[in-house]
Formats: sequence, structure tokens, C-alpha cells
Amino acid sequence: MKYQENVSLASLTTMRLGGAARYVAEILGQDDLVTAVEFAREHDLPWFVLGGGSNVVARGDFNGVIILNRIKGFEKLDEDDVSATYKIGAGEIWDSVVERLVDAGLSGVEAMSAIPGYAGSTPIQNVGAYGQEIADTLVELEAYDTDSDEFVVLDHDECGFSYRNSIFKDPATRHHIITSMTLKLSKESPRPPFYPSLQKYLDDNNITDYTSINIRQAVIAIRADKLPDPAETASAGSFFKNPIVSRAVADKLLADFPDAPHWEMPEDKQKLAAGWLIDQAGLKSYSAHGMQIYPKNALVVTNLSAKSADDLEKFKSEVITRVQEKFSVTLEQEPESL
Ligand code: EPU
Repeated sequence: MKYQENVSLASLTTMRLGGAARYVAEILGQDDLVTAVEFAREHDLPWFVLGGGSNVVARGDFNGVIILNRIKGFEKLDEDDVSATYKIGAGEIWDSVVERLVDAGLSGVEAMSAIPGYAGSTPIQNVGAYGQEIADTLVELEAYDTDSDEFVVLDHDECGFSYRNSIFKDPATRHHIITSMTLKLSKESPRPPFYPSLQKYLDDNNITDYTSINIRQAVIAIRADKLPDPAETASAGSFFKNPIVSRAVADKLLADFPDAPHWEMPEDKQKLAAGWLIDQAGLKSYSAHGMQIYPKNALVVTNLSAKSADDLEKFKSEVITRVQEKFSVTLEQEPESL
């Protein structure tokens, strides 16, 4: 396998920041994966697996091995009257997977259309959009366990999914490199209630035939309007997590700001909308240090001209402070830091 040396991390991540990666290895199969991990160990270097780099922000140089996971695969394993099960390689482009499954008349991932990146990245942060998350359809996944040095199969519950999190993201528990995942899709059409902004789009456009294809097209249109195209504008999608707070904190906020969007979560918690908080703090379109809050969606931070991760850190601190001052809620970064 070939290792490229001193590769710009800005070229590998959609936020287009960061210094140089010492080595980059593109892996096409399980053997390549094992070889790349051994190479890193022989050189006493850390490794980091990247898909499309759309949810990772590089801080500086990475003195280690970037493993670009390009392991392909798209195979129907099983089918009955109501469902079909597919095994999907981690290195497949996620939106092509969604397109193929929707074209096959299946539902379960159509609301996660037009999300940039690769399939194998979706379980890491339990990707979700418009009322669906990958945990809803994921039956099991295959991964290389870098603690035991063997390929393992983890079922849904072993992945520890929660809002934008899993055992693969949490630094305390991350020791797997995902190679494939198995999804169980439904043959039934998607059913309401749909996520409010999706339902509004359907109503506004007189769409009453709720097929997977129609939902996919609606989501593509909504996202095109609210999220920058990574090919044109540098960003990492949603830059902040929607904060999950105790009922007491939410009640206090709602007493002062009754319009604040909020959703019930397990364990009597409430999820707030980071985009709304940033917007109401007057930060939409706010620009400093070469970064900007995206004018069409306050949850997205774009890189207009910043050259270093320090610029992003300064900008991020300013946004967090302004929201904290106004709402006493502390925002947290959503993309992973490298
Ligand atoms: N809002 C504002 N101003 C804004 C942005 C949002 O007031 O500038 C309000 C909206 O009006 C709405 C609420 O905030 O009442 C929530 O906004 P929205 O429904 O657009 O979704 P979100 O919570 O901002 C989340 C995901 C997105 C996903 C959408 C749709 C996170 C961190 N983000 O955004 O995911 O596409 O829901 O399901 O959970 C991503 O992770 O990169 C991503 C784009």
C-alpha cells in the first residue's frame, strides 16, 4: 500500500482548515486496514480514520496516519414481504446509498438524503436528519477492534447510540474502525407525522403522496436552501449540537423566551435548538476571524477566509460566550476535532 506524505488537512476536510498530515493511506479492503494500522504502530504514530472529512475539524498538523476508508460494498442479504436487509461498505458515498435504497422502493433512510460523507461515518455520530437517525435502521456493523486486533460484529445495542453520539465517537470508548454496516429497511411508505419543516415543505408544495422518493426530493430541496454546498463553501454542516438540558433549565429559559423551540428527550430532559439560540443572540451573518455564521442558517459556521484553526477557536468562543450571556446555555461543538 502507498502512503502519501505531508498532505494538507485542509484538502481532506470540508471546513478547509488545519496543517499537514504526516501520512495518508487509502484503504480498499480489510487487509489494507490491518496493514495501515500496523504501519502506524511500527512508526509509533496515532491513526485517525476519515471519510469525507465533513464532520471533522482539523486543529493543526497531525503527526500520524490518516486512514481514508474506501471499503466498498452494497449487497442485499435478506428480504421478506415487509422489509429488506442490506450490507453496506463503510467507504460507499452515503447519499448514493440512500439513492439506491430509495430507488429500490425502500424507506428508513430517505430523510437522511443529501448528507455529505461516507456510509461508515454515519454510525459514529449517529447521523440524523428530519426525524430519522441511522440508529433506527442499523441492525449491526462490522469493525476492526484495535484493542483486540480482530474483526468483530457489534449489534445495534452494543453501539451505544444516543443523540449525535455512539461508542465510536466517545474518546473513552473509541477503538473500532467500521468496515461495513447492515441496515434493515421497510417496504412500507414513510408515514406521518413528519418533522415540522419537512411537513411544511410537503404542504406548501401540495405533496400528499408520501413515497420515499418524494420525501427524498423534499429533503434535498430543503437542505439545498439551508445548508451550504460543501463544493462551494467551506463548512462542517451543523457546527453546534442542539443542547440537551434539564427540565429546570428549559423551564427557566421558556419563562423568559416562550417561543424557544424545544423537544422532549429521555430522562426528563429537553433538547433546545442551537440555531435558534444563535439566531436570537443576534449572530446570524456575524463574521469575524475569517469565519461567518451562515446567513441562511445560524447553526452552520462557514470558513470564508480563515487560514488557521486558531481563527475558528476564537470565533467559536465568541459565539459560545454570546449565547451563554443571553440564555445561560453553553453550546458544544458538534464536529469532531482532529
Ligand atoms: N432556527 C432558527 N434560526 C436559524 C436556524 C434554526 O430560529 O438560523 C430554528 C428553526 O426555526 C427551528 C429550530 O431552530 O425551530 C431547529 O432548526 P431545524 O429544524 O432547522 O434543525 P436543527 O435543529 O437546526 C438539526 C440537525 C441537522 C438536521 C436538521 C433537520 C443537529 C446538530 N442538527 O438541525 O443536521 O439536518 O436538524 O433534521 O442536530 C448536521 O448535523 O450537520 C445537520 C445539518
